[in-house]
Amino acid sequence: MEALITLLPGDGIGPEVTRCAQDVLDSIAQRFDHRFEFREALIGGAAIDATGEPLPGATVAACQASQAVLLGAVGGPKWSDPNAAVRPEQGLLGLRATLGVYANIRPVRIHPELAAASPLKAEKLDGVDMLVIRELTGGIYFGKKTRDAESASDLCEYTVAEIERIVRVAARLAGERRGKLCSVDKANVLETSRLWRDTTDRVVADEFPGIELETLLVDAAAMHLLSRPADFDVIVTENMFGDILTDEASMLAGSLGMLPSASLGDSTVALYEPIHGSAPDIAGRGLANPCAMIASAAMMLRHSLGLVAEADAVEAAIASAIAGGARTADIAAGGEHISTDEMAAEVKRNLS
Ligand code: IPM
Ligand code: MG
Repeated sequence: MEALITLLPGDGIGPEVTRCAQDVLDSIAQRFDHRFEFREALIGGAAIDATGEPLPGATVAACQASQAVLLGAVGGPKWSDPNAAVRPEQGLLGLRATLGVYANIRPVRIHPELAAASPLKAEKLDGVDMLVIRELTGGIYFGKKTRDAESASDLCEYTVAEIERIVRVAARLAGERRGKLCSVDKANVLETSRLWRDTTDRVVADEFPGIELETLLVDAAAMHLLSRPADFDVIVTENMFGDILTDEASMLAGSLGMLPSASLGDSTVALYEPIHGSAPDIAGRGLANPCAMIASAAMMLRHSLGLVAEADAVEAAIASAIAGGARTADIAAGGEHISTDEMAAEVKRNLS
């Protein structure tokens, strides 16, 4: 097949891990006889430097003209002045909103060989395999913000329609797995969470009678993720809780550098990005783990291009590279490690 893919390398380690993903995709194209055309565009701090804006119109146009978008990371100390008029993160949030990609799928799968890289005991990690479905285009991230000398505020708002559509995505995915859905909120304090809970209860009862629904308050969920991680199948939650809980969940997998994500909407071009940030402290030093980005490219092959065998091949190659002992610094547990590019080469070598 032929596919046009927009690459948004962004800032920090974004460009180096994006290069790795492109490299693996080139190998896949060769092996499976596809033609992937890549077009790069600017986002985040890199876009601010070049154009003054975190999300230039040309970037949006490029994304909309392609089949899928692969994004590295945005942000860094250079652009983090709290009084700056524009911030790199606005580029990412603006892109998510513009593309309407409200469902952020964050799989948390464990490579058993990485147990030593996790702060949890190995026996706790046995059987961990969950999907966190994070609502991505609503909530406190997108509410009205105010600031004066004495105070600041961030409005958190959700509509019934926004909750219904994300719960449907999550329940459908749960139906394809172990049939267990856990909805996370803060319904003892927040009005938006009470609406979230009522809506979730109703949608699941009316439309997904076969799904077993559990509801957890977010503080308890943070604890249960560590005390009984293997119990979770699909978790659905609002934007900010999903952001926080997935960084926590990454420790089950050993590193933030292992978790990919897919951001999907209704019949729009989808966005694929690792859940990690731009890690400016290690940028350009060959220390970044490209696995999350390469696994995000695999999700793109599966969800946007319908190339299931190719996606399976990439995921299996990451697993074989890890099983064969390839470790970047973040997952080396103090042992020997290889560079970002060497890890990508190991994944390519393990493609079968
Ligand atoms: C993520 C990131 C972003 C978010 C930042 C970079 C704005 O942390 O994708 O999880 O908070 O959504
Ligand atoms: Mg985050």
